[in-house]
Amino acid sequence: MSYPYQITSEEGYHAAWKKSIEDPEGFWGEIAEHFEWKRKWDKVLDWNFREPSVKWFDGAQLNITENCIDRHLKTKAHEPAIIWEPNDPNDHHRMFTYQQLHFKVCQFANVLKNNGVQKGDRVCIYMGMIPELAIAVLACARVGAIHSVIFGGFSAQSIADRLKDAQAEFIITCDGAFRGAKDIPLKNVIDDALISCEFVKRVIVYTHTRTAVSMIKGRDVWWEDEIRKVETAGNPDFPAEVMNAEDPLFILYTSGSTGKPKGVVHTCGGYMVYTNYTFVNVFQSQPEDIHFCTADIGWITGHSYIVYGPLSAGTTSLMFEGIPTFPDAGRFWDIIDKYKVNILYTAPTAIRSLMAFGLGPVHGKDLSSLRVLGTVGEPINEEAWHWYDEHIGKKKCPIVDTWWQTETGGILISNMAGITPSKPSYATLPMPGVEPLLVDDKGVEIKENNVTGNLCIRSPWPATIRTTYGDHERCRTNYFATYDNLYFTGDGAYRDENGYYRITGRVDDVLNVSGHRIGTAEVENAINMHAGVVESAVVGFPHDVKGQGIYAYVIYSGSHGDEEMTRRDITATVSRIIGPIAKPDKIQLVTGLPKTRSGKIMRRILRKIAEGEVENLGDTSTLLDPSVVDQIKNSRL
Ligand code: WT7
Repeated sequence: MSYPYQITSEEGYHAAWKKSIEDPEGFWGEIAEHFEWKRKWDKVLDWNFREPSVKWFDGAQLNITENCIDRHLKTKAHEPAIIWEPNDPNDHHRMFTYQQLHFKVCQFANVLKNNGVQKGDRVCIYMGMIPELAIAVLACARVGAIHSVIFGGFSAQSIADRLKDAQAEFIITCDGAFRGAKDIPLKNVIDDALISCEFVKRVIVYTHTRTAVSMIKGRDVWWEDEIRKVETAGNPDFPAEVMNAEDPLFILYTSGSTGKPKGVVHTCGGYMVYTNYTFVNVFQSQPEDIHFCTADIGWITGHSYIVYGPLSAGTTSLMFEGIPTFPDAGRFWDIIDKYKVNILYTAPTAIRSLMAFGLGPVHGKDLSSLRVLGTVGEPINEEAWHWYDEHIGKKKCPIVDTWWQTETGGILISNMAGITPSKPSYATLPMPGVEPLLVDDKGVEIKENNVTGNLCIRSPWPATIRTTYGDHERCRTNYFATYDNLYFTGDGAYRDENGYYRITGRVDDVLNVSGHRIGTAEVENAINMHAGVVESAVVGFPHDVKGQGIYAYVIYSGSHGDEEMTRRDITATVSRIIGPIAKPDKIQLVTGLPKTRSGKIMRRILRKIAEGEVENLGDTSTLLDPSVVDQIKNSRL
């Protein structure tokens, strides 16, 4: 198998981009011909950003799992689809050929059906990075159920909020997950979440860590028992459900500038075509490749570039359960050496954390199989870029800096490996089908180069967010109402003299901590839940490894006996309400916050203080009580 729509030269890229903008329907219609549809579309694209309403391949029917699995059975039934590397390097790795994956997915699709899961039902998946997670995701897609994967770092409260929002009646989880030296009791967390979610009918539990769990009669069942029932019944096949191109494929919750996460909805047809197209072109993948994306399937990167992109392209996706520093900081390099990985796709935060260990862990590891390196999730600083280039790619592997979002489903701005030029810290050029533009704060387009502005997209690409689950108006106001008739990304960007884009970071109240999105309002709400907290304000500050750290200013009226203990209690509260990933790095107890006369917190000042810029705070004359600023400055952490 090769990819007829793989771009092979810089001129080819420019020609494809031009065609895609002049004739999007012709462009994507041709690409879509290379997939398996049960029925072809009536119209390639129908859209307006005002409602918004975006429909790709409307009228077409398909099942994404037939494109990710079944269609490869003719030519590569015995090639590896998924290789799994366990957390503990001394445990056995596992491998699934396309045929074995087909068998496992069909088997588990039968389990879902036997447990009452039907097309359109929402199924929450809360598991560690084990092959059964990918199998569960694909089995949901096979039966037409809408999966909603929740990252293991979220708390019971966060899970409950998401279960309610999605009205999910089914859960797939494990007893526990291994991450480095830690053993995370996932089923216990689910049990806590379910105290307030009595509508949940069924919890399917896979045993992995063998930690003790409670199993509630009538609600909880073991994955293995359910598989045995399917085996006994004899026929493991599961004909894929017929889905319309615009039927939802999954919901994935992500943070915004309000306190409540949004359920981003992607649909079957467009998402499939776009993740495949970007996978094949950005990474210049080859069918025999071993593709190692280090993300977790709990995030969009894992959905698009561990599961759907690589499998729809028929490559081998390497899934890693653990963390980069366990048992030591050479783990990624050991894995690349062991499996002869061709493409490594990771986050700048991981590169920075590994850089800090020096070159010792890299020495003696054979990285010569690597052909392409990628980064995602946050801006990459030049130092990390060069370290990655020199010590991992040995200056022979192009680095793709891929900019995109949960809402965009796939990569929107990136160089193409070895095809279009890279430039350190620049995502560079848009994918075919993507027309970025910069606007000023009034929404007026800035047409020149060498400018910064708010990054927008002019027209839909096939994996555009379709709605926010259960609240379409929220989707409109969040993404399509800031600037008329444009998709607004929430990011700022600089465009250089060649038209290359450099993402400068969020322009809204959203933080990017280790490549994870966290809303400041969400963290503030969680802090304010702590007894004794009167008010809080959360901002980001530059962090050497995480990119951004979380800095919280807290007015606390409880007993101030032991400040350190108070901070720990606040941290524990945040961990309980959102999850360990949102724990503040710094908590400064203050007596007041800088507010304008109308009561608005002046975050600009707090941001500057958190960044350590205490001298030039700008105009503070509009503050109700300017002396607050000095107090905060003096007790800065
Ligand atoms: C936000 C989206 C895309 C999958 C992982 C994160 C930031 C993402 C880059 C990049 C600079 C980047 C943006 C974006 N971001 N990639 N290559 N360079 N910034 O997905 O959680 O939806 O976050 O991550 O700020 O808006 P997400």
